[in-house]
Amino acid sequence: MAEFGDVVRSRRSSRMFLPDKPVPHELLDEALTLAMRAPSNSNTQPWHLFLATGERRVRLVDALLAAVDAAPPAIGTAGLPPQFAHRRRESGALVYGAMGIERDDAAGRWAAQRRNWEFFHAPVAGVVCMHRDFTHVDAMGVGMFLQTLLLALTERGLGSCVQVSISFYPDVLREQLDIPDDLTILCGMSIGYADPQFAANHLDTPRNPIGENVVFLQD
Ligand SMILES: Cc1cc2nc3c(=O)[nH]c(=O)nc-3n(C[C@H](O)[C@H](O)[C@H](O)COP(=O)(O)O)c2cc1C
Repeated sequence: MAEFGDVVRSRRSSRMFLPDKPVPHELLDEALTLAMRAPSNSNTQPWHLFLATGERRVRLVDALLAAVDAAPPAIGTAGLPPQFAHRRRESGALVYGAMGIERDDAAGRWAAQRRNWEFFHAPVAGVVCMHRDFTHVDAMGVGMFLQTLLLALTERGLGSCVQVSISFYPDVLREQLDIPDDLTILCGMSIGYADPQFAANHLDTPRNPIGENVVFLQD
């Protein structure tokens, strides 16, 4: 069994999957069983995950791409507090750089971004929801479920990417995946075997030193 630290360090967001290598249901089931162990407020287990494969996934991607092409999303630094805007620029530079896309290549960037709504060719397309009456407290529980799921998938050799971009088209998701109105759509996720030839799948995205995010107080 892999060391926990190795699993944490080797997880990364994959943005290109092997479309013809299916995810064994048994592995998905094991990972989900572990993820269900995540803590949540009053054990509400607020996560709701819709997973589409096969024809359902194909129809979902077709509908999403039609919506994206009809009304492309405004991707920029919108939605981020100004003091965090540089993070998106830095992360974009890193990811697109690894894809060989130049800074001023708008068409290249858009082609890469558009692959979000193809779930980066992953054979399993996920949408993460929680009940609409839940609050940020419960969203934390969903996040704990998600991270546990990502790590369990990593441990089983599977790649993944959490994607807020998927949630930009809630009506399409509801229609294609029969998501009821009492659920809020939080994000999407791709699951599959990461394409090892795709350089951007091997990025080691930097993190802050602990002191930037954690305050130790002792007097
Ligand atoms: C809530 C959330 C939403 C994200 N949305 C997207 C997305 O829409 N598209 C994408 O390519 N990556 C998305 N990511 C992946 C992040 O860009 C990635 O986690 C971050 O840059 C750190 O890189 P790493 O996951 O490889 O360590 C998202 C991650 C999280 C946790």
